[in-house]
Amino acid sequence: VRVLAVASEVYPVVKTGGLADVAGALPIALKAHGVEMRTLMPGYPDVMRQLSDADEIRRWPDYFGGPGRLLAGSHDGLDLFVLDVPHLYARPGNPYVTQEGIDWPDNGVRFAALSRVAADIGHGLIPAFVPDIVHAHDWQAGLAPAYLHYDNRPRPGTVMTIHNIAYQGKFARELIGAIGLPWDAFNVNGLEYFGGISFLKAGLQFADRITTVSPTYAQEIQTDEGGMGFGGLLRARASVLSGILNGIDVSVWNPQTDPHIAYRFDAGDITFRAANKAVLQQQFNLDSSDEAPLLGVISRLSWQKGLDLLLDAIPTILGEGMQLALLGSGDRDLQDRYQAAARANPGRIGVVIGYDEILAHLLQAGSDALLVPSRFEPCGLTQLCALRYGAVPIVARVGGLEDTIVDIGEADRSGRDATGFKFGPVTADAFARTLRKANLIFHDKVTWRRLQLSGLSTDVSWRNRAGDYAALYRGLMAARYTA
Ligand code: ADP
Ligand code: GLC
Repeated sequence: VRVLAVASEVYPVVKTGGLADVAGALPIALKAHGVEMRTLMPGYPDVMRQLSDADEIRRWPDYFGGPGRLLAGSHDGLDLFVLDVPHLYARPGNPYVTQEGIDWPDNGVRFAALSRVAADIGHGLIPAFVPDIVHAHDWQAGLAPAYLHYDNRPRPGTVMTIHNIAYQGKFARELIGAIGLPWDAFNVNGLEYFGGISFLKAGLQFADRITTVSPTYAQEIQTDEGGMGFGGLLRARASVLSGILNGIDVSVWNPQTDPHIAYRFDAGDITFRAANKAVLQQQFNLDSSDEAPLLGVISRLSWQKGLDLLLDAIPTILGEGMQLALLGSGDRDLQDRYQAAARANPGRIGVVIGYDEILAHLLQAGSDALLVPSRFEPCGLTQLCALRYGAVPIVARVGGLEDTIVDIGEADRSGRDATGFKFGPVTADAFARTLRKANLIFHDKVTWRRLQLSGLSTDVSWRNRAGDYAALYRGLMAARYTA
């Protein structure tokens, strides 16, 4: 099976969140399942720098308003197609926003251009790689299935994966002409969405299969609340919608070999975590204490992640004698409030604002518990890393958090070993109650150790999950042959 994946970020080349982790790990895991995947991404400056020896395979004098090229190259085991269109992608800052944090005003054209070339590769633009399936990730790639539909030619199968339904790629309807779609695409059964258009809707409407990144989120997005505007559409397409859990790259996240942590360890010598905890306490200006439970957070600071609820729980954290180390960046207001909390509670609350992969590894290796109080979470990856590093996850009972963590209270019923704590409803009160419960159990060393060890023995790798994608691709191809 040949699959063209389309993604706006791919680890280790460019990353702003979990999408990049998935787009970077899945192609490698799929090799073992006989799937040849190549990934198309935009040529941002970081990409061009890292793929400086890629080959030019197509050139256009005018691609959406300026010269463009398509390159093919490989990087860290990934086979990439890079769309190099300098007037769209050669910009400082983040893939989506200016240095001031405002969406690039031409994001509609920027990501239409990406999807257009994906559809053309689907039609056979590159004879050496004609895909059986085009797999679009998130709204940035959502137009690919729509172009393939409206082109009205024989086409490959299409899969649309939702990593986060809150990001919908909404634009004014006038864009339709500029991006080369027919005007009748402006229709409720096409791209029309509350008077404008949505690139995510384009993908959801026209893809042959829709997936999201956990079974529980696949259910949640079929409700009016969780669907955030797409509940009805997804209920109508329920027969082609499924949830496939994410894994993590267990070679990047491996406490036995991790170059970024102070002391390496594994399930057999988990007591060495204490040395990492001591280094972590230093780096976050926390009092050095082995006895104080250290709570870690690694997160984008946004409403989704529920970190305002954690601010409300600070009195509980202090009252219980726990410490908090938070690494994150995002909303200004949350950044300010966390920095203020750290200033007000020296030695007890440590905050680093920024994006820092090395520190993220140390946090996983040294925290006693990892907090993920999200209001919604399609899958979540940090709790999976936490399982692998012996940090006990304390998570909201939503989406992929529900599916990947076994609560200490539900272990007996499910027959699976407990790996952490889940709270719901997602309120500050329920969160604070769960933190108090975790603190009690932290001091019961035997039970806590058992939680850590069952986390360490949980399979969080891509090995089995990639097989679900391979089966999805093969099922889709079989369905198209018989149709
Ligand atoms: P989301 O994609 O919604 O942000 P995920 O949990 O799926 O959430 O993925 C987040 C990824 O980004 C993880 O790999 C996590 O370690 C990483 N990450 C998030 N914030 C930071 C940060 N401030 N510094 C380093 N890594 C971060
Ligand atoms: C999104 C989601 C996150 C998920 C990631 C990768 O960013 O917010 O829950 O893990 O995509 O699928």
